[in-house]
Amino acid sequence: PRPILLTRHGESQDNVRGRIGGDTAISEKGELYSEKLANFVRKRLKSERAASIWTSTLQRTILTASPIVGFPKIQWRALDEINAGVCDGMTYEEIKKNMPEEYEYVDNSSRKKDKLRYRYPRGESYLDVIQRLEPVIIELERQRAPVVVISHQAVLRALYAYFADRPLKEVPHIEMPLHTIIEIQMGVTGVVEKRYKLMD
Ligand code: F6P
Repeated sequence: PRPILLTRHGESQDNVRGRIGGDTAISEKGELYSEKLANFVRKRLKSERAASIWTSTLQRTILTASPIVGFPKIQWRALDEINAGVCDGMTYEEIKKNMPEEYEYVDNSSRKKDKLRYRYPRGESYLDVIQRLEPVIIELERQRAPVVVISHQAVLRALYAYFADRPLKEVPHIEMPLHTIIEIQMGVTGVVEKRYKLMD
């Protein structure tokens, strides 16, 4: 069975500032992760000539992929992070202050209502993200060679939940830490998962 490797981009400038969305570059720490990831991929996919690297169209994933050489890279708009609409570029604190009525939905730690269905004004919900991922999933299923998917927190929660067969309502709450690779292998007996935390 061929592996699918899922990872978030290396830490971005916006991650450092706690801003959601945006299209910033990666930090020095993020760059370090990109090097470690490239090393890991080189060793793990040594004899896998047909493997490919999939990123979103946002800088932080493209930069994270850049030290990886020898494999084709494909950019998917469908792998872009959840669109936070009017909240794009804000911190959770700013949303709390400026839009208190939105905050109870948006807050990362205590979304009390329906995080799966909550749609940012002029943006997307997790359900919207799950829907737009369909072509990516079809293509991932069709691939015979390994794929490295470098994407974003919300998108990877949705992809991971699909392959790990986790219930829809859990999707927005799945832990998806930075600088960690989730390897998924689909065998006859089901899905085998390994995690590699390359750095903090
Ligand atoms: O903070 C990084 C980030 O990728 C944001 O761009 C995005 O809005 C958020 O994570 C998604 O996580 P949550 O839905 O838990 O806020």
